[in-house]
This record gives sequence, C-alpha cells and structure tokens, in this order.
Amino acid sequence: MEKNNHKIDGRFILLLLSICIATLFFVRAVIAFFPDDTKAPPGINKLLLQDTLIWYAPDIKALDGSADSRQIKYGRELIINTSAYLGPKGSVMQISNGMNCQNCHLEAGTKLWGNNYSAVASTYPKFRERSGSVESIYKRVNDCLERSLNGSALDTGSSEMQAIRAYILWLGQDIPKGKKVKGVGITDVAYINRAADPTAGKVIYTQKCQSCHKENGEGVLNADGKSYQYPPLWGAHSYNNGAGLFRLSRIAGYVKSNMPFGTSYDAPQLTDEEAWDVAAYINSQPRPTKDLSKDWPKISGKPVDHPFGPYTDTFSEAQHKYGPFGPIAEYKKKQAKGK
Ligand code: HEC
Ligand code: HEC
Repeated sequence: MEKNNHKIDGRFILLLLSICIATLFFVRAVIAFFPDDTKAPPGINKLLLQDTLIWYAPDIKALDGSADSRQIKYGRELIINTSAYLGPKGSVMQISNGMNCQNCHLEAGTKLWGNNYSAVASTYPKFRERSGSVESIYKRVNDCLERSLNGSALDTGSSEMQAIRAYILWLGQDIPKGKKVKGVGITDVAYINRAADPTAGKVIYTQKCQSCHKENGEGVLNADGKSYQYPPLWGAHSYNNGAGLFRLSRIAGYVKSNMPFGTSYDAPQLTDEEAWDVAAYINSQPRPTKDLSKDWPKISGKPVDHPFGPYTDTFSEAQHKYGPFGPIAEYKKKQAKGK
C-alpha cells in the first residue's frame, strides 16, 4: 500500500513540473510575438533605459576627422591632461592647481562608479541646492575648476570650454533626457554607526596609500614638472574646502570603488569602515580654502555631510563632517515629512 502511494506522488510531481515548463514556454512565446512598445530613441540599446543596467561609453575611435570630431577629441584631451593646458605651467593659460579632471573623473570620465560623466548630457541644465540655481554644463565645469582644481573659471566662449562641453555631451549622447544609468557618479558607501576616525584612517593611509600619494599627501610630479604622476590629496596643490571631495561621503565613495589605483567597484580593497576612516584622515589635513558664504542659500538643502554650519538641525559641525551620519539623515527625513 505504502509503496503504491509513493509511485503516485512521483508521477504527480512529474506532471506538475511538465505543466510549469510548458506554461513558461507559452508565456515566452507570447512575449516574443508582441513587439516591444518601449519608446527608445533610434540607435539606443533599450536596456540602457532601465536604471538597473550598466552603461558603456561610446567609442572615441569611431570619431572621424570632421571639425566636430576634432573638438570632441580636444575636449577629451583637456579632461585627461588638464594641467598641460591649464595648470601652473599650462600651454594655453594658467588657471588651475596642476591636477587633471581625470584624477577624479577616471578614465576620461567613463569609469563605472569612477565619477563618470554619463548623466551630464541627460540631466543638465539642472537645479542644484549648493548654488540655489539652475546650472548649465558651463557652470558645473567651472565649479570643479574653482573648487576641485582650486583655480578660476574658463570663459564660456573659449575653445577649451566649448571642447569640454562637446566631449561631455558626446559621452552621454545615448542616454535619454532625464534618465541615469547604474554606475553613474560616485558609490554611496553605507553609513557606519560611529564617527569616522582620522587616527584609524592614518594607519590605513600609511599601509595602502602613502606609497603613491606620499607621507604629506603632496603626491608626485612627473619629470616635466607640469603635471602629477600621483596627484596630491591635501596641501597647497589639492582641492579646496568647497570641493565635492571635501564631503566625506564623496571621498569615501570615490576611494571605496577606485583606490588603491586599479581598484574597481566589483572588487573593492577597503571595507566600508576603512573607506570612511581613510577619508576622514585625508579631509582632516590642511588644504586651500574658498569663500563659501554664497553656497547653500537654502540652509535646509545642505547634505548631511556638509561640514559648515549654520544648520536647521542641532547636530554639531564635527558630526556633519565625520558622522555618524545616520541620525542626521533620520532627522532630515522626519523634518521633510513634517512639512
Ligand atoms: C578633486 C576631484 C575632482 C577634480 C580634479 C574634478 N572634479 Fe568634477 N567632480 C568632482 C566631484 C566630487 C563631483 C560631484 C560628484 C557627486 O556629487 O557625486 C564632480 C562633478 C562634476 C560634474 C557634474 C557631474 C554630474 O553628473 O552631475 C562635472 C560636469 C564635472 N565634475 C566636471 C569636471 C571637469 C571638467 C573637471 C576638470 C576641469 C573636473 N570636474 C575636475 C570631483 C572633481
Ligand atoms: C599605485 C598608486 C596609488 C595608490 C597606492 C593609491 N592611489 Fe590614489 N590615485 C592614484 C592615481 C594615479 C590617481 C589619479 C588617477 C588618474 O588620474 O587616472 C589617484 C587619485 C586619487 C584621488 C583623487 C584625486 C586627488 O588627488 O584628490 C584620491 C582621493 C585618492 N587617489 C585617494 C587614495 C587613497 C585613500 C588611497 C589608499 C586607500 C590611494 N589613493 C592609493 C594612485 C594611487
């Protein structure tokens, strides 16, 4: 009797499985029969429309010798070798600190989670809380020149600004207006339950960063003295206190997915805690300052890790600089709900 029961169970399960598989095939066939109605602009990989999928930059080698192509290639060259053209010994003008855009926008602004430019064409002009205004690509590029490169702005009409803009627009050409793809910008490292610790960060710095960036964070110049082999992380030639990397979440995220040099997002070499701590060590060191009195006209618009008051909350400047950020984020969420 028992034996018989087992036989029936086995056949029943087999039948169920067959029905499942047949249904799957049927559903697939139906999906394949009806044309996809996603309205992708021509030439666009439809997969890009989904935020979960990954972006690939267009191929620079596919550009021809036309005037447009020459401008785009010059723009790319300015991103990679900024200092040779615009640095302290620059051949075109001397308006920046010796760093290259590529030092922070890796692989000419194309690296996944390497602060790439994929979303600029699709999202600018856009409103930004820092300036309290709608910013053009020109304004955003000059922001980095004045802060990250601690220098001065390019004229909007200059061939250099026009070339940088042309390159950035070309890079993001496949992404529909208003969209962003996965891999854009900088990784958001999960908050930790304590303040980031510069002392612990120093230990990591000595072990994993100092060989290239040097003991005093000054980096290493190339033999020609015009640009850096290893860029500075603090001191007179580094980014100033108004730069994006001066926010702890930005530098922690940049470092987590990209440093030590050669690291990629899918094989990070630092734990989250190490990334926060080493970021805290770097941003506790001296660097150039900028007048920031016009930034963040709406105080409540400041991000949790903006290290300068006043604030609309009661957390200290130190907590806004080093964390823990979780409680501040919670508070901001509640505040926003209350309104
Ligand atoms: C010291 C590092 C650093 C350097 C050097 C630097 N940037 Fe940036 N840049 C940043 C950071 C950080 C952000 C903001 C990223 C974020 O908020 O997630 C940013 C953002 C941008 C954006 C906006 C990206 C977007 O998707 O909204 C543009 C455009 C840009 N930079 C252009 C440039 C150009 C052009 C140069 C060279 C003239 C340059 N940057 C040099 C760090 C740097
Ligand atoms: C093998 C050499 C090497 C090591 C080790 C290394 N870096 Fe870098 N780092 C670089 C190079 C090269 C760049 C610029 C990348 C480029 O231009 O393509 C860079 C860029 C940076 C930048 C952005 C540019 C700037 O100067 O502000 C930061 C921040 C940074 N590194 C932090 C770190 C941290 C933190 C560590 C240790 C965890 C580290 N790096 C380890 C070579 C290195």
